[in-house]
Amino acid sequence: MTERLIDEVVLVTGAARGIGRAVAEKAAAEGAAVGLIDVLAGELARTTAELRATGARVAAVVGDITDENAVAKAVGELSSELGPATVLVNNAGKNAYADATRMTVAEWDSVFDVDLKGAWLMARQVLPSMIENRHGAIVNIASIHSSLTTAGMFPYAAAKSGLVGMTRSLALDVGPHNVRVNAVSPGYIATDLLEEFFTTFPAEREHALDVHPLGRIGTPADVAEVVCFLASRAAAFVTGANWAVDGGLGVRSA
Ligand code: NAI
Repeated sequence: MTERLIDEVVLVTGAARGIGRAVAEKAAAEGAAVGLIDVLAGELARTTAELRATGARVAAVVGDITDENAVAKAVGELSSELGPATVLVNNAGKNAYADATRMTVAEWDSVFDVDLKGAWLMARQVLPSMIENRHGAIVNIASIHSSLTTAGMFPYAAAKSGLVGMTRSLALDVGPHNVRVNAVSPGYIATDLLEEFFTTFPAEREHALDVHPLGRIGTPADVAEVVCFLASRAAAFVTGANWAVDGGLGVRSA
């Protein structure tokens, strides 16, 4: 425990479970007050209670990041309880398994709404106070699919590549205000989402271990460590980057 995030107010989307929950736990352990947003009311209440039991300063709002009014309401409520956000972790996301020739526009929009637009809506809401205070960091959880992808996952790679592109744009635009924006690109991380992927592509379950240079798949805590580093002053000169947390999978050619 280094207390790297003491005095920070860290908002995490998709915080009820998986990587988002691990980020919230790590940020709290590093001294931050944490604000949690998720659509899963029951899991969010459980996660919030378990975090509070550790002595963490935590507030939570059930909210959908794809809905601009819900985003404004959630950020407003969390700010009045914890103070203005100094760190935003755009973690909420979902996989896609569409066929490009049959996918409907509504299905396309539902992927981009969560994996790309929601991150912008959240950033739009928190950036004014970060800019005013000349202090802030945003970490966008992209994916290894921002540079490599798997057949049958259309248009997840497009949305996650867009998120990395948005990271670059924002990093340039808000850098002069001392606000940093980075992306983290996980590979295979053991969560409910990965279970869904393995259920969709059963052969991948065996294959996954073999292709990782580190010989294992990752844990949510592996990702949370890097996210909290990038959010902290220890990464004061890092912005616009896309950090892989993939056990070396992304540098392997065969
Ligand atoms: P997960 O499915 O376990 O957790 C995602 C959380 O986001 C859930 O609690 C869900 O309710 C929440 N969420 C989804 N849509 C939402 C919305 N519209 N508004 C608010 N909350 C919403 O997934 P996991 O694995 O923890 O993934 C977290 C992030 O990491 C996602 O962006 C995912 O794309 C990314 N990622 C995950 C990888 C993995 O192997 N698990 C690999 C690469 C990227």
